[in-house]
Amino acid sequence: MHLFSPIFLASIYAAASTAAASPLLGQRDSPSNETSTTYNTPVSQYNFNDAGYTYCQANYPSSKSYSPLPNASLEMVQVVVRHGDRTSYTVLPNENETWTCDGVEEDTYLHETDKPPRNTTGSFKQVIEIPKWNSKYGFSNKVWAGSCDIGELTDIGKSQHRKLGGQLRDIYVRKTHFLPPTLTDTSSVYFRTTHIWRTKNSGESLLGSLYPGRNTDSNDAIPMHTYPESIETMYENTAACPKLNSYVSQIYGSATFQQFLKDQGPLMSRISGILGVSGSVWTASWSGYVDALLPRKCHAKPLPCRSVNGTKTDDCITEDDVKQAMRNGSFEWTYKFRDHPLSGEYMRLAIGSFLATLRDQIHDHVSGAAKAPKFSLYSAHDSTVATILGALKASNADMLWPPYASNMLFELWKKNDGNHVVRIIYNGHILQLQDGFKWCDLSSCPLDKFNKYLEALIPTDVAAQCAI
Ligand SMILES: *[C@@H]1O[C@H](CO)[C@@H](O)[C@H](O)[C@H]1NC(C)=O
Ligand SMILES: *[C@@H]1O[C@H](CO)[C@@H](O)[C@H](O)[C@H]1NC(C)=O
Ligand SMILES: *[C@@H]1O[C@H](CO)[C@@H](O)[C@H](O)[C@H]1NC(C)=O
Ligand SMILES: *[C@@H]1O[C@H](CO)[C@@H](O)[C@H](O)[C@H]1NC(C)=O
Ligand SMILES: *[C@@H]1O[C@H](CO)[C@@H](O)[C@H](O)[C@H]1NC(C)=O
Ligand SMILES: *[C@@H]1O[C@H](CO)[C@@H](O)[C@H](O)[C@H]1NC(C)=O
Repeated sequence: MHLFSPIFLASIYAAASTAAASPLLGQRDSPSNETSTTYNTPVSQYNFNDAGYTYCQANYPSSKSYSPLPNASLEMVQVVVRHGDRTSYTVLPNENETWTCDGVEEDTYLHETDKPPRNTTGSFKQVIEIPKWNSKYGFSNKVWAGSCDIGELTDIGKSQHRKLGGQLRDIYVRKTHFLPPTLTDTSSVYFRTTHIWRTKNSGESLLGSLYPGRNTDSNDAIPMHTYPESIETMYENTAACPKLNSYVSQIYGSATFQQFLKDQGPLMSRISGILGVSGSVWTASWSGYVDALLPRKCHAKPLPCRSVNGTKTDDCITEDDVKQAMRNGSFEWTYKFRDHPLSGEYMRLAIGSFLATLRDQIHDHVSGAAKAPKFSLYSAHDSTVATILGALKASNADMLWPPYASNMLFELWKKNDGNHVVRIIYNGHILQLQDGFKWCDLSSCPLDKFNKYLEALIPTDVAAQCAI
């Protein structure tokens, strides 16, 4: 959930530790002499290729470039998305911006009765109210002016998911006829979201375009499944799984990572000085910088400048600062989720339970054990996408910080010979794996091989393994 949380980062300590390589995970598929992707490689050699990458908007899959797998039929699609464009979580000490979210006000109502007629309370409209006095009387650095909460989906974010839903309709309804043009049975679609507004609103927007023109009759409602926060599996849930903190401590405490932070110290302190922020979150991680800078850039807001005694100076964040923050943030996550010797075990507890959900849904379908929906949507966060990518050992280019509205399509195909294969399309292209870890061709990965790879990533006893 982009856990830019001081509590989370407070667990990071600076002691270097030497981690033993996991016996289960993170092994190379073959001996390799390449050095560009090993965990102890100097950061300068990472060479993230960010040509064509934009944090502000993920590429969409498109019916033009989409081609069905030859001699096979599509049986199931699971879509995992990051929410769309959102406001920052970082309100600056000299915050002087206005953010508007007027287009994402949600109408809601409650049922008065469970029995037909399911009379309702009548509808309500959600409005974020930020009182005018807020900018004057001391709470001003808690929020900005306008109509957005922190971390809320913006009008742009809503449009991104409406567009994405339309692209999926082009592919799965118009082009392949995999899905019916109208949704007559709402149980044929499964929708799960984290409990947070921006992910709910993103999923609603996407499904609103996949199936446009649906009415507001409660009988036609698509169930919107949400796990209680305490057991959410779609992000690193440190409250449910305290062991995650210990992995983070070891990874962030490693000599490689500490050296990285030391090298980045001058840039971090220049940017934090301009922003006027301080504290351990601003020295221990790039996450806060990504959060503070990228949303502003995506909205073409003026980049923040240093204030001295309440007066703005000419010492401002540059475009290059934003770019370096994104790249260094991407390195940080790549190292944490993919490249440290403990990353595999960490991913097993961070995202393994969710991977089990995807696997089990496929299994139910293939084995005929249960009627599985043809189309599932999981609406979640950058860290959801990044941990899945890290777990699968995606290429450097695909490990760049997941852009807004990032979309992963897990397609289950049945070949004419009866065998099932999985295809993974990430932001419009076949997901590429890291050099040296090409454990499958994800344009058509045999299901057995896919399951075997996932097996090591799925906790066998999550409660025991998460305990400290
Ligand atoms: C790396 O390994 C390949 C094949 O094993 C070999 O052809 C190549 O020369 C090696 N490169 C270096 C730089 O050692
Ligand atoms: C599909 O099946 C046909 C007929 O069996 C065969 O001629 C063709 O080569 C197959 N295409 C691919 C891409 O496997
Ligand atoms: C705040 O923004 C307004 C409008 O852009 C501008 O006129 C004003 O100078 C800004 N104040 C500060 C302290 O940056
Ligand atoms: C539902 O609303 C109708 C019309 O107002 C009313 O007659 C009926 O008693 C309500 N039903 C229940 C169970 O409240
Ligand atoms: C800022 O204000 C303080 C206290 O009023 C003063 O000592 C300092 O010189 C001021 N700094 C600048 C750059 O004006
Ligand atoms: C991180 O930022 C520095 C500038 O401080 C830059 O030289 C370096 O290339 C960046 N790291 C990555 C992985 O892009």
